[in-house]
Amino acid sequence: MSIVIALDGPAGSGKSTISKLVAENLGIEYIDTGAMYRSVAYYCVNNGIDYLNEEMVEANLDYVDIDFINGDVYLNGEDVESKVHTEEIGIVVPKVAAYKEVRSKITDICRELAKGKSLIMDGRDIGIHVLKDEATLKIYLTASAEERANRRLKEFKNVSFEDVLNEINERDYQDMHREISPLKKADDAIEIDSTDMSIESVVDFIERMAYGKDN
Ligand code: DC
Repeated sequence: MSIVIALDGPAGSGKSTISKLVAENLGIEYIDTGAMYRSVAYYCVNNGIDYLNEEMVEANLDYVDIDFINGDVYLNGEDVESKVHTEEIGIVVPKVAAYKEVRSKITDICRELAKGKSLIMDGRDIGIHVLKDEATLKIYLTASAEERANRRLKEFKNVSFEDVLNEINERDYQDMHREISPLKKADDAIEIDSTDMSIESVVDFIERMAYGKDN
């Protein structure tokens, strides 16, 4: 039985933690599409490309080769998994993720990687666009902005709750209001509000749904 899970939701909703556990438990692949957008942002920052200049970013896309191997993202042959998951890249990435050609390139890579596999893919537009027809289960994972800020505070030291909350609200706004593929729940997605749920209970729920059991 082929399992293709599309998991979307806002920043900090727990998508990657949940996806890794579901992938491990079900023995399927995990593809983190946010890491791919982050790699484009990282490439720009590292090569002095003005990320606010859409034309300039798009003119450089041919030099950006992205792959996903054993759960890690690779940029031009280098494992950049830890380098792309930083606060600095987190600020740049919503800008480049709004550009049409960037989205088209990453979407193509995601679809290629997903071909013929059982997997869980997380992002913002997986259920609504990237695996719209292929997904056997679509989940839209949310949590209140305050809860997401609290979770993030546990990861990053020396930041205030207000700053983290502002950053989350800003990112939500950018992800939900961009012109192309804004973050949105697919009509056929199941919404899970994880504000008061443990990681284990979310994972357990998704696994049951993946096998078509709803209790
Ligand atoms: O999930 P994340 O924080 O690593 O995502 C990084 C950024 O990439 C975020 O601004 C949303 C964007 N993104 C997107 O637009 N579409 C996706 N499928 C995945 C991520």
